[in-house]
Amino acid sequence: MADPQEVLSRRVQSALGAAFGPEFADTDPVIRPSQFADYQANAALALAKRLGRKPREVSAAIMEHLDVSDVCRDVEVSGPGFINLTLREDWIAEQAGRLLTDDRLGVPEQERLNIPIDYSAPNVAKEMHVGHLRTTVVGDSLARTLEFLGHNVVRQNHIGDWGTPFGMLIEHLLEVGEASDEADLLTTDPNAFYQAARNKFDASGEGQDDFAARARRRVVALQGGDEETLRLWRKLVGLSKVYFNRVYTKLGVTLTDEDLAGESGYNAMLADVCDELESKGIAEISDGALCVFLDGFTGREDKPVPLIIRKSDGGYGYATTDLATVRYRVDDLKADRILYVVGAPQAMHFKMVWATARKAGWLPESVETTHVQIGNVLGSDGKILRTRSGAPVRLMQLLEEAVERAAAVVAENRPDLDAESRAEIARKVGIGAVKYADLSVSHDTEYVFDFDRMLALTGNTGPYLQYAQARIRSIFRKGEVDPARIEGPITVSERAERDLALKLLGFGAVVEQVGDLLQPHRLSTYLFELAQTLTAFYEHCPVLTAETDAERESRLALVAVALRVLVRGLDLLGVEAPEYM
Ligand code: ARG
Repeated sequence: MADPQEVLSRRVQSALGAAFGPEFADTDPVIRPSQFADYQANAALALAKRLGRKPREVSAAIMEHLDVSDVCRDVEVSGPGFINLTLREDWIAEQAGRLLTDDRLGVPEQERLNIPIDYSAPNVAKEMHVGHLRTTVVGDSLARTLEFLGHNVVRQNHIGDWGTPFGMLIEHLLEVGEASDEADLLTTDPNAFYQAARNKFDASGEGQDDFAARARRRVVALQGGDEETLRLWRKLVGLSKVYFNRVYTKLGVTLTDEDLAGESGYNAMLADVCDELESKGIAEISDGALCVFLDGFTGREDKPVPLIIRKSDGGYGYATTDLATVRYRVDDLKADRILYVVGAPQAMHFKMVWATARKAGWLPESVETTHVQIGNVLGSDGKILRTRSGAPVRLMQLLEEAVERAAAVVAENRPDLDAESRAEIARKVGIGAVKYADLSVSHDTEYVFDFDRMLALTGNTGPYLQYAQARIRSIFRKGEVDPARIEGPITVSERAERDLALKLLGFGAVVEQVGDLLQPHRLSTYLFELAQTLTAFYEHCPVLTAETDAERESRLALVAVALRVLVRGLDLLGVEAPEYM
């Protein structure tokens, strides 16, 4: 099964080569969806300048060499020199028929690259917030998509598990007791634990034996590798992992303990990172701190902004660790392409880290690094989402509320189902709705978190798409046909059949695009359009009650492919597809 746009591209390109010489054979033929045909080739307009000829003349020359008679039924020049291309129904039908036996549904298998993806990355003893939710969901979708395209994806969950707050956290843990309910808060409500430690620290006196002094000594012991201190630190991290995993399980993301690659793991490399930068003359001491000054990074009054890699007290920071991540991912993980799915406000940080790494020779030009910027999730007031009291929203609570709200809708629509089935659907719909809301808008834009909108059964929502595939399943149940058994052949005569078949042929190209551009929302948009195409299809083309057996078989084949595309597409987004709704 061929993507029509791809096929037409190649045909127009060979016409370009034949008409204007081999040097034109890889010119972009600019094939776009058209209002007046299926596609149009706009190449003539761009080429006219280069050739010094009129666009219409150029398109006439292309037409002379264009051989698409097996693919197109109409080809004509229009307007200033567009070539309008209308596909043949038998070609569309044949290609759609091939999807029926294609496990990959037209998604190409790409040359295998090593792609570390840094995503989720919550902080130990802190609540995951909706920002972490979004990098988790977007990162997971990119990981699934790139894996399906054939790549070796290495998930890197860069959790914040190191730094000065661990002094007070460890002292607090000792005071409340390692096996206490307070310690257990780390697995359910980490902010409460953190806040209690913080309050003690802030209220502490300044005496030798007071909390603050003990906390500071603890930081030194931790950095010095004191065994007992490390044991307590591991305890804290362990309890936090329980919390992270509860969230990941609830969300149905693919991250496991194997993927943890936290900040602490880079400790041993930091001194070396600094030494090498200093000896290469890339870093210099400024006000006691070791800094990298890069061209083009200036702040107010054109003052150069430093990347601080060793503070004046000798401590290393976030930037030093991230320089180490680059080295590790290039040298040890043999990365061909590295993605950091992290909040948009960190854009400057990554630019500076990568520029430094390139200068140091740690990041070869052949390795592409991308910051997949995550935009803020806002409350209805247009500010960063918080609870009414101003506290950060607890992620678990948010997810539970989504499931509860979905349960209310399911209870109303499907009183016939038993409680267990209803709960299962509610879970898939509630969680799917939250995840889909993150994935249906461009990852770098802000959006307003709104339960009513994300749970709506109409519009570009998770539940709408889940419903679209459940509806197809119900057709098969009603007709007592196994969708896996359908053989076709597919024929295309009605307009709505043609539209559906053509839409299905576009799946592979969209998935490929998501992998290239790292924009899962393109897949969401495609699936939403597919669901709309299906609705129009049902309106005009009865399936089980089609007039002839051949027609019925063909339509069953079309919706069987649509079902697989919807389920696969949702899976690449990380959204589950319930059997019925
Ligand atoms: N833990 C950080 C945060 O919560 C995100 C880390 C992102 N990854 C990285 N390599 N810097 O903001």
